[in-house]
Amino acid sequence: MLNKRALITGITGQDGSYLAEFLLAKSYKVFGITRRTSTPNYERIRHFQDKVELIPGDLLDQQSLTSAVKIADPDEIYNLAAQSFVATSWSQPVLTGEFTALGTTRVLEAMRQVKPEAKFYQASSSEMFGMVKETPQNEKTSFHPRSPYGVAKTYGHWITINYRESYDLFAVSGILFNHESPRRGLEFVTRKVTNGVAKIKLGQAKSITLGNLDAKRDWGFAGDYVEAMWLMLQQPKADDYVIATGENHSVADFVKEAFLVIGEKNWRKYVKTSKEFIRPAEVDFLIGDYSKAKRVLKWAPKTSFKSLVKMMVEADIELLKKNSR
Ligand code: NAP
Ligand code: GDD
Repeated sequence: MLNKRALITGITGQDGSYLAEFLLAKSYKVFGITRRTSTPNYERIRHFQDKVELIPGDLLDQQSLTSAVKIADPDEIYNLAAQSFVATSWSQPVLTGEFTALGTTRVLEAMRQVKPEAKFYQASSSEMFGMVKETPQNEKTSFHPRSPYGVAKTYGHWITINYRESYDLFAVSGILFNHESPRRGLEFVTRKVTNGVAKIKLGQAKSITLGNLDAKRDWGFAGDYVEAMWLMLQQPKADDYVIATGENHSVADFVKEAFLVIGEKNWRKYVKTSKEFIRPAEVDFLIGDYSKAKRVLKWAPKTSFKSLVKMMVEADIELLKKNSR
């Protein structure tokens, strides 16, 4: 039997790197779209770079995306690329709309024109729920995005559904709640905290400066969540699913747990707050109901909150030690 072929936008990102590993282990031929940067940023994929084929392309450039679909001739397309940092979406709202909203249409158009029989996954987000209308949030909960990023993702979500309904494409949206890992970007709160705690442990920093400590998120492990993306494309019918843990914690809870990993009970001694990290509009409370994914996809998260925090703190301590050797 021929190996399946997958094309991933955003392969150099957190999720793209875990998904590529997951698909390689299933003997897929994996293609990834990478955009031009002045120096390559392949840290997350370096350990398997020789096993995947990288195709130059950008979410802003229709021709490059269409050409990538021609080259990869994929059975499955995972659209993970985006301007994914919520805070930046206020300082670069138009760019966020171009990448995160219209970029989705461009990838869908490339698939529609070149390989309409392929299956398409859209990386939708719990940020679409924003000011939540019910708790926990499920696939039927209405949206009230609170940032230009959330608004752009809501567009991406609906254009995916629209292409499914207009052209009968197999196009699905995974509404994923926050998921983290040692590969998380340093600007996101979890990694900022675990990196800060690791630095404090090694005597390289004295404190961490954060914004809103009261916001609550449903945090899972990225390695668990990429399996759900794949499962959505293995179903007989295209549909949308919430992927979450069904548990939430405040930013303060995360900080407290991270300091406990290094044996420090008095986390408040090390944490400062600054208005600089307060957002113009906040998403206060997210918690997902993943019962549909559990029932249909037979998916459930495997990593607890405590083990996620421990994994991230320990990985950051190791990384800092390695870098200083
Ligand atoms: P990430 O680490 O920020 O990765 C984003 C990826 O998009 C990177 O590979 C980046 O490439 C690429 N990219 C950005 N702009 C691009 C452009 N113009 N053209 C081509 N590629 C571009 O994000 P992530 O955490 O892996 O998340 C993956 C997707 O899931 C994103 O769409 C995100 O919005 C969504 N999502 C994430 C979460 C979460 O908690 N992680 C939850 C829900 C939804 P460079 O390496 O060149 O920057
Ligand atoms: N980044 C950051 N930095 N966030 C902080 C800080 C800080 O210093 N202090 C407090 N926070 C709070 C934010 O205000 C927010 O309420 C929460 O921590 C989480 O922020 P992020 O880690 O930046 O993630 P996010 O929830 O805004 O967005 C992530 O999850 C979405 C899914 O809900 C991103 O991965 C998005 O791409 C994703 O769609």
